[in-house]
Amino acid sequence: MQEIRIAVAGFGTVGQGVYKHLLQNRALLQQRLGIRFAVHGIAVRNLRRKRSVKVPRSLLTQDWKSLVEDPRVNIVVELFGGCGEARKLILAALRKGKSVVTANKALLAEHGEEIFEATARYRAKIYFEASVAGGVPIIKALREGLIVNRFQHIYGILNGTCNYILSKMSHGGVSFEDALKDAQKGGYAEANPAFDIDGIDAAHKVAILASLSNGFLMPFSKVYIEGIRSITPLDIQFAHQLGYEIKLLGIIRNENGLSARVHPVLIPRSHILAAVDGVYNAIVVRGDVVGDAMFYGRGAGADATASAVIADISEAGLDRLYSTEMRPLLGAKPAQTKIKSIDEVVSRYYLRLSVVDRPGVLAAIASVLARKKIGISSVIQPEGHEGKAVPLILMIHDAKYRDMRRALQGIMRLPSVRGRPMLLRVEDLS
Ligand SMILES: NC(=O)c1ccc[n+]([C@@H]2O[C@H](COP(=O)([O-])OP(=O)(O)OC[C@H]3O[C@@H](n4cnc5c(N)ncnc54)[C@H](OP(=O)(O)O)[C@@H]3O)[C@@H](O)[C@H]2O)c1
Repeated sequence: MQEIRIAVAGFGTVGQGVYKHLLQNRALLQQRLGIRFAVHGIAVRNLRRKRSVKVPRSLLTQDWKSLVEDPRVNIVVELFGGCGEARKLILAALRKGKSVVTANKALLAEHGEEIFEATARYRAKIYFEASVAGGVPIIKALREGLIVNRFQHIYGILNGTCNYILSKMSHGGVSFEDALKDAQKGGYAEANPAFDIDGIDAAHKVAILASLSNGFLMPFSKVYIEGIRSITPLDIQFAHQLGYEIKLLGIIRNENGLSARVHPVLIPRSHILAAVDGVYNAIVVRGDVVGDAMFYGRGAGADATASAVIADISEAGLDRLYSTEMRPLLGAKPAQTKIKSIDEVVSRYYLRLSVVDRPGVLAAIASVLARKKIGISSVIQPEGHEGKAVPLILMIHDAKYRDMRRALQGIMRLPSVRGRPMLLRVEDLS
């Protein structure tokens, strides 16, 4: 039985889950892989912190550098999070030729170039299944199972916090603020939820998926990001009336250029993604060979994430045992691939305005849109009282965002249009 020694950097939610399941399923891993994994040490910040998973005190250290440099350690598992010490630790481990396993999407999205360069320079390997969608093995699916496919689109519910909040608003009719409080009470949202609700966490994952599915590094700065703070119960109610659900989606589309974005979207209630509720993640992929494939499961949490991290530890162990050569992670950007700005992206829209109920308002709005060659596909206007402000909902045909944005500026200058508009994209996901 071969022994592979592991250094675990971080003993928080994921670190404890990994340690627990490595121990609990040790015999299973030995039987399946022919490898005995031994945890050589665990780096933490605070040695006195109470942990829910028991660990021998002798394994804990505050000195991650010595742990990573130790020649007996074969695999370094980075679970610090963030882009500070985690970056230094991963680079130090790669420099020493160790295999690195990480769940750190922020680091890969924002410093991927430096990290992937280091893997090539030091002929060391990095594994990052847990960085996208927790326990759902989407990275291995894209890199292995679907390798022959060109991806027309990938749609993903990639942030459990946002999906929990939107599900709560949809089924409970509550406001965004109340749904967020509920998520915080249940432990599904951080005390500072900005990273999740402003779409940044999902955008990190989109950058990773866009890179893997297209074979070159998608710069994080090219991912368009909108969060869910401005969604109101009124929008959810109108979306339902029109046959849609509102979800925060990560979208990667190849259509006369590549677009990578995260924003709230109206999707048909009949689509399978509309039924993905609560903290669950789901990803729908369309490949030119496989057709449609869907992946669904828990996107976060100690156990689900540990499942993905241990899959990577297992792969890294086998690669070391059988001296598998490094497979290229990404290639050069194909010359013909244009990354589209959001202004170039064409979609349908849901537009909610607040207008004074008086004759000619709709005609004035339609004429501003028509000047940009934008058509209206349907209108909802609840009965109002003449002279009072009422909501006006317009469903709008395909238009480039640049044209839609400019038309909206014109609409907002009309004397009968009041307050802040709400513009959301509509995807039929076909
Ligand atoms: N939580 C999830 O469900 C989940 C899901 C997918 C991916 N991830 C990713 O997994 C990573 C870890 O997340 P987590 O939720 O487990 O984080 P966490 O609960 O905050 O744990 C972080 C751990 O790292 C240690 N640490 C951080 N900086 C350190 C430093 N400079 N020196 C020594 N120790 C340090 C902390 O030590 P102390 O305990 O002593 O403070 C703690 O044990 C992140 O990249 C995250 O994005 C998390």
